[in-house]
Amino acid sequence: MLDKVADKAFHNDVVAGLSLPQKAIPPKYFYDERGSQLFDRICDLPEYYPTRTETSLLSRIAPELPDRLSDVAHLIEYGSGASRKTRIVLDALPQLKSYVPMDISEEFLLGVADALSANYPQIDVVPLVGDFTAELSLPSAVRNGTKAGFFPGSTIGNLGPEGGREFLARTRRQLGSEAKFVLGADLVKDEKVMRAAYNDRAGVTAQFNLNILSRINRELGADFDECSFHHLAIWNAEQSRIEMHLVSEKAQSVTVNGQCFAFADGETIHTENSYKFTQATLRALAESAGWRTEEIWIDEEYPFAVVLLAAA
Ligand code: AVJ
Repeated sequence: MLDKVADKAFHNDVVAGLSLPQKAIPPKYFYDERGSQLFDRICDLPEYYPTRTETSLLSRIAPELPDRLSDVAHLIEYGSGASRKTRIVLDALPQLKSYVPMDISEEFLLGVADALSANYPQIDVVPLVGDFTAELSLPSAVRNGTKAGFFPGSTIGNLGPEGGREFLARTRRQLGSEAKFVLGADLVKDEKVMRAAYNDRAGVTAQFNLNILSRINRELGADFDECSFHHLAIWNAEQSRIEMHLVSEKAQSVTVNGQCFAFADGETIHTENSYKFTQATLRALAESAGWRTEEIWIDEEYPFAVVLLAAA
């Protein structure tokens, strides 16, 4: 066990996270194959407004994209998942030479890439397995030509203000001085609507959150009792973020690959932040990372933004 490099990083991150005063696990570890499937189901939940809101917003602005992105030869998507929204962009940009979906979940990514290749025979689909929060070099197929980044879904909200800035600055360097970037980000709205999106009645978000414990059990030889933890999602107004936690329902101890961690009754593991932005915070974030805001499109009913950035 723990022979692979990826497992070693996973092990180190989990042990480090469970050793903090506020226990925490990075949200990227949600996405094993089952986690990716559960997230895909979340996207179809009635309470989870971001996916359908952003999809309809992208469809609405699609006619403007050919002009705005006429020079772009290569599209790089960070955390592509099921690449659902990508099709809207690929359909709007017939000049594209290649599409690079980047995702941490290998099985999931390769399946999606195969399906896209079949549907878009004129585009070179080059899947890249990896973590977009780390430094990662782009495939040589996209070295020459203008590049655009695509980061929909408000995944940027997982990274926090500092992590978001670092991500945007790194992609700005990586994509070059002619680059464009299409960024989707969820905006602050009615608290009840935001909370419901992370507390769905069908309990899929709870399964998604708890799945990280079964993944740790399976891949890291741990003995979490999933039944003695429950899902919690709250709105932290001061930080402008939804927080997800796993709450220990009793005092207990858990062993991870021989190392023991004690939980008090009610103690939590913080598993995710989903920051919600305003137009102003979003603009400031992009501009602090070397981008210029060319356009912001907003869905007014469920406030959500798609931002077009250009290298400054
Ligand atoms: C994929 C990070 C955008 O934060 O809304 C959905 C993940 N977590 N329900 C989000 C998620 C709980 C999602 N992102």
